[in-house]
Amino acid sequence: FRCASIEKEQTLGIIKPDGLLSNYTDKIKNVILDSGFVIRNEVSLQLDEDSVRTFYAEHSSKSFFNSLITYMTSGPVLVMILEKENAVADWRALIGPTDARKAKITHPHSIRAMCRTNSEKNCVHGSDSPQSAQREISFFFKEKSAAVYVFLVLKYCP
Ligand code: TYD
Ligand code: MG
Repeated sequence: FRCASIEKEQTLGIIKPDGLLSNYTDKIKNVILDSGFVIRNEVSLQLDEDSVRTFYAEHSSKSFFNSLITYMTSGPVLVMILEKENAVADWRALIGPTDARKAKITHPHSIRAMCRTNSEKNCVHGSDSPQSAQREISFFFKEKSAAVYVFLVLKYCP
């Protein structure tokens, strides 16, 4: 045997308040599991304004920032650590474009197309890079070492 290594990666997924409210949780989880992800950890939370401000700090100067805060604090969210090879890019591909109305046309099988409301209410979040994934996982799962987000699983090592 060759000593084959599989690089597992972790990303952060969030089912946003509209996703939970419209009972998309099971459908979204089925897509996650059918696509080969392991849900390594999950927690349901009611976010407060300060948490959303910090989490979305990169958007603090955008015109939509206040409505984003209102939306993200409008009900509970489900935060998940998703793990597989190439998790960050694969999860972004699964959720589809930011604007769920466009997603319906250009990416009809994406999760955001399934939830289809508008660009603001797009039912799920996904980290946009491995660096964001590391920051976002640490943000919600403080007890976890940020170093675990990429690791190697060694197989067939005689
Ligand atoms: P962004 O990080 O650009 O999108 P994504 O979630 O695909 O990474 O924006 C973060 C969230 O901000 C987005 O999911 C919904 C909200 N948003 C708006 O309300 N209006 C907008 O024009 C944009 C770009 C985002
Ligand atoms: Mg983003």
